[in-house]
Amino acid sequence: MKRHLLSAADLSRDDAELVLRTAAELRELADRPIKKLPALRGRTVVNLFFEDSTRTRISFEAAAKRLSADVINFAAKGSSLSKGESLKDTALTLEAMGADAVVVRHGASGAPHRLAHSGWVRSSVVNAGDGTHEHPTQALLDAFTMSRHLGTGPKGSLDGRRVAIVGDVLHSRVARSNALLLNTLGAEVTLVAPPTLFPVGVESWPVEISYDLDAVIPKADAVMMLRVQRERMSGGFFPTAREYSRRYGLDGRRMATLQDHTIVMHPGPMVRGMEITADVADADRSVIVEQVTNGVAVRMAVLYLLLGGSEPAVGGEE
Ligand code: NCD
Repeated sequence: MKRHLLSAADLSRDDAELVLRTAAELRELADRPIKKLPALRGRTVVNLFFEDSTRTRISFEAAAKRLSADVINFAAKGSSLSKGESLKDTALTLEAMGADAVVVRHGASGAPHRLAHSGWVRSSVVNAGDGTHEHPTQALLDAFTMSRHLGTGPKGSLDGRRVAIVGDVLHSRVARSNALLLNTLGAEVTLVAPPTLFPVGVESWPVEISYDLDAVIPKADAVMMLRVQRERMSGGFFPTAREYSRRYGLDGRRMATLQDHTIVMHPGPMVRGMEITADVADADRSVIVEQVTNGVAVRMAVLYLLLGGSEPAVGGEE
């Protein structure tokens, strides 16, 4: 593993499989009454969130605490300083506090890279979502969830599995990180969106692209729906919400065309009635709540491995 986790592309197949394997061991803990391990006792993890977040921030906090790290939550949103200055000043403060890992979410694509490579901090930097760029731990938890449901062989391999990622690809850091990681893990990704919601340069991603949801989903093993990120939209990317839902939303009628084993995923937060209907979100094949549970185990694995865990994470020390 590299020292930082900034992009899903930082992970070789061996690295990604190590994270998933470690997460699988740690996942067992979630079902035990005592969920805590001493692995990161005495280490400090700082959650530095410049952008709103519910599940990602809580998930990293739970992950660090379950490994007995000290956790400092730094909600930097609302700072009046310009972004470059505030990032640098904040970084110097974190360095002074002796952070071992900094988990950063920022509205600007590339901010975690800046933090990691500026020389301002010595800690490991984990990208928890930067602008419309990347969200590698989300991709890891998605791959982990897919592997549990669809994986083959002792390693839960995703080789040849077909994943459809549907919706606002343009603004989605989740889509980009998933496209990269799933490709590394041998899965076949098809992105489905209206032409206005694909980013420039998507041709160079390791994916197929389609505008036709009904043609793609009957062949998919997993269907991942993305939120329409209105807060990042300035113009009209589609005629009306109703028209969007009709062409690119997952409803009961479309769900009926999926194969029996196909799972439905969503990184959250969902806009029920827009990209996904309530009956689909709550259906048996929906693994959306399980994604959240798995997120804690995956983030534990990432923190543990980045902070130099060489002993087995579980059962290695008492
Ligand atoms: C996503 C994000 O913030 O990139 N959510 C998440 O981390 N669970 C997706 C989104 O906001 O729609």
